[in-house]
Amino acid sequence: MCRIVFLLAVISILCPSAEALDNGLALKPSMGWLHWERFLCNTNCDTDPNNCISESLYMQMADVMVEEGWKEAGYEYVCIDDCWPSTQRDAQGRLQADPKRFPGGIKKLADYIHAKGLKLGIYGDVGKTTCAGYPGSLGYYETDAQTFADWGVDLLKFDGCFMNWTLLGEGYMNMSKALNQTGKSILYSCEWPLYEWAFHKPNYTAIRETCNHWRNFDDVYDSWTSVKSILNWTTFYQDIIVPSAGPGGWNDPDMLVIGNFGLSHDQQETQMALWAIMAAPLLMSNDLRNICPRSKMLLQNSRIIEISQDPLGKQGYCTAKMDSFEVWERPLSKNRLAVAVLNKQEIGGARGFAVRLIPGWKICNPQCNVTQILPQYKEMGVQTQRSSIVLSVNPTGTALLTVTPISSYYKKLYKLYWKPMSIKQNTIL
Ligand code: GAL
Repeated sequence: MCRIVFLLAVISILCPSAEALDNGLALKPSMGWLHWERFLCNTNCDTDPNNCISESLYMQMADVMVEEGWKEAGYEYVCIDDCWPSTQRDAQGRLQADPKRFPGGIKKLADYIHAKGLKLGIYGDVGKTTCAGYPGSLGYYETDAQTFADWGVDLLKFDGCFMNWTLLGEGYMNMSKALNQTGKSILYSCEWPLYEWAFHKPNYTAIRETCNHWRNFDDVYDSWTSVKSILNWTTFYQDIIVPSAGPGGWNDPDMLVIGNFGLSHDQQETQMALWAIMAAPLLMSNDLRNICPRSKMLLQNSRIIEISQDPLGKQGYCTAKMDSFEVWERPLSKNRLAVAVLNKQEIGGARGFAVRLIPGWKICNPQCNVTQILPQYKEMGVQTQRSSIVLSVNPTGTALLTVTPISSYYKKLYKLYWKPMSIKQNTIL
């Protein structure tokens, strides 16, 4: 009996409270590229052919993703946002792509993307029209789900504009069922809670059962004010939203805007580090054809991506706020911990933060191994709970660490089996 109770307790600690949408997708936070923040609703292909929403934009991004190491780093979804369809459905009531900007149609684009080993995402809306005024799916959930499946689409971002909020949940659930009924696995990215928060607290159990990720808060803009507001919202509501995240379903704080115009490099590091700590989908919205090498290196930093994709699949929390610093911690597999220390003071220079003030630092009793990932990679070696390391963090920048405990158990084993002989042999050699 005791054993069963113990097992249940362990399971409830390890698993998020609700069941995830059972489509086998998003077992780790999704990674890819999404057009919205950078390219918006630019339909002006005559005067701006390079940046308008057209099939060639996604084809070019897919080419670069393969050629420039993005795919290898883990970014796999190439996602279309709003403004892709024709303003009219076809004679059978199906959505169709704008014929001028997508002359090959979406199926051909999906084939192109798949041939590169990547996946295609598309955008729709639960209501009457999309936020930019294109046809919405209300009244057409089955038809649209089937059309997306027939085209070979792998992800659907489903927006919540122009919908009576009392019907939002029902609409999102019906589309989830319709996608499931197509028999094709389509990752389902929702904005359900964002549109519901204005009226009441959303039901995250139902959301997790319905969607693979869900937006909670405002659209990200290319600015520190915007990134900061998303982090502030998340810390304020973390007790409600963090437990709902886990393999199969994730909170979505919106796109990475790294590599654009509005964030300093320190702020870009903050976004990358905190999105990894939040177990957020890593969907970049930038111009991969023209991105500065430093931003590219940051987005492709395998140590940060490893934190984001950690198999334990737990979202991190903000665990301390003091003197304009914030400490965020994410538990990782093998009892490790990722720690981000953000300096929120927007005046002055770099400031020091003593690592022993990190709440999770107790795993360094008796000892731990520390690796600094941001702002520079540095092995900090074996530390104890009393270590006097001080991190230097720039204004609006973040120091990112991983901490690996060295348990006394391992220490004992180590002492038992480690023989100084090997050193002697080395010395003789
Ligand atoms: C917003 C949505 C954005 C983008 C836009 C398109 O409501 O949050 O991410 O999709 O609509 O019109």
